[in-house]
Amino acid sequence: MAYTKEDILNGSIPQHVAVIMDGNGRWAKQNNMPRLYGHRNGIKAVRQITEAAAECGVKYLTLYAFSTENWNRPAEEVKGLMQLLVSAIENETQTLMKNNVRLLTIGNTAQLPADVAQRLNECIRRTASNTGLTLVLALSYSSRWELQEAIRSIAAEVADGRLSMDNINDQTIAEHLTTRGIPDPDLLIRTSGETRISNFLLWQIAYTELYFTPTLWPDFGKTDFYEAVVDFQKRERRFGKTSEQVAHE
Ligand code: IPE
Ligand code: IPE
Ligand code: MG
Repeated sequence: MAYTKEDILNGSIPQHVAVIMDGNGRWAKQNNMPRLYGHRNGIKAVRQITEAAAECGVKYLTLYAFSTENWNRPAEEVKGLMQLLVSAIENETQTLMKNNVRLLTIGNTAQLPADVAQRLNECIRRTASNTGLTLVLALSYSSRWELQEAIRSIAAEVADGRLSMDNINDQTIAEHLTTRGIPDPDLLIRTSGETRISNFLLWQIAYTELYFTPTLWPDFGKTDFYEAVVDFQKRERRFGKTSEQVAHE
């Protein structure tokens, strides 16, 4: 069945959807093409999903675009991905403006090549006052890197007396992550049939609904996105409580 926007608008729309965009390489292989061809086609899926999310009222869309571990890929692939990123930002900024989308990044962006960082910052600056969807690109991101940084800065605050050790709680930790100010994801989608998290948002997905699909990322379109949301809408989120308690809330 091909799902449409109408299939989800009567149910609750996830406020924050996170996506592990996986399978570009396998998609390219299926088409007897080099891996970068898969990444290029992955950008089309990014466009589709961003549009679908914005249209149905999702407030935050976080896309895992490049992990800390992805730096270990062949130099040529890394270089190609960085070039793709630059051209995607150049080509898409206009569309982001038109659709009222605000761009943010999470991750160790200091590791990115200077031209990539510069273009990203320019796009972030230009879209800063847009009030529709917030598109969060996870770039050179890994959850363990993020937690390490958070622990370092919490420790520094304790050491110089700005923070008392007794006052460290869930909120303190959340506020020291790169996702500060962004609500936790309601739904996490991973494409390509892999059922793992690969160092993505480990703290933030404590109560996120997980959705895995065999579809490879370049093939993932709007109907696939709506299907994931339909699945999400069928679930009961209990946050540790009983079903009866949840029903009376
Ligand atoms: C996801 O596709 C994109 C990135 C990790 C940058 P992959 O490149 O991981 O594709 P597969 O998993 O090899 O098919
Ligand atoms: C996860 O995909 C990272 C991104 C989608 C950016 P990978 O393809 O790198 O993950 P593994 O290696 O299969 O776990
Ligand atoms: Mg992969």
